[in-house]
Amino acid sequence: MKRSLFMSLVVAALACALALPLYAAPAKKAPDADITFKAPEGMKMTKSLVKFPHKKHTEVKCADCHHKKDAKGNEFAKCDAKGCHDNLTAKQGKDSYYNAFHGNTPKSCVGCHKAKKEAKPNVPTACDKCHPKA
Ligand code: HEC
Ligand code: HEC
Ligand code: HEC
Repeated sequence: MKRSLFMSLVVAALACALALPLYAAPAKKAPDADITFKAPEGMKMTKSLVKFPHKKHTEVKCADCHHKKDAKGNEFAKCDAKGCHDNLTAKQGKDSYYNAFHGNTPKSCVGCHKAKKEAKPNVPTACDKCHPKA
């Protein structure tokens, strides 16, 4: 009896250990291919659309960029989702679409790249490095 209880504990512990990686793994994989941003509906675009390579950002935690779910609970919401960076005209402020990418904050493309420039000179900080001229 004691022996079989011990065995079932061992089996249970093993089952837990094997199941753990399933829970620890991210729910979704980052896309392998570069993402090209889509123009937000209703925004007058003045620059070329930006390409974003997940592959080059493996040292940044997913949640540092994907920091808020959208209204539907999507963890990998679009930056311009309703209630997020959906102010298409303001240049400043948390809801500003422009500021989300260019603001002097650790989560914005330009903000983070400027902070990393010394250690990683290849990070793009000039306009036409992200918005290439045709
Ligand atoms: C440096 C910032 C950054 C990091 C780190 C990052 N992402 Fe993303 N991810 C983005 C941006 C920007 C988009 C495009 C959002 C948009 O279209 O508005 C995106 C889009 C996505 C999408 C949607 C793709 C599609 O085609 O709709 C998924 C899924 C995703 N990321 C998963 C991940 C996972 C998983 C990780 C961590 C392994 C991760 N991301 C790390 C910035 C990042
Ligand atoms: C939290 C920091 C961080 C954020 C936010 C971030 N990046 Fe980066 N990015 C990096 C780092 C670090 C590298 C360099 C990786 C390497 O070379 O090891 C990089 C590299 C890149 C490169 C590749 C440059 C090359 O070597 O060709 C592109 C393009 C790029 N980022 C675009 C973006 C865009 C667009 C955004 C916003 C949507 C963004 N990044 C947001 C940290 C960041
Ligand atoms: C690290 C990459 C990066 C750099 C550097 C960068 N931008 Fe952007 N920019 C973006 C992203 C990402 C968006 C939003 C998605 C898109 O428009 O493709 C954007 C959008 C914009 C928009 C709004 C959309 C439009 O087309 O009108 C303007 C204006 C803009 N950028 C101007 C600039 C200017 C001016 C500079 C140089 C001072 C600059 N950007 C540098 C990544 C960058």
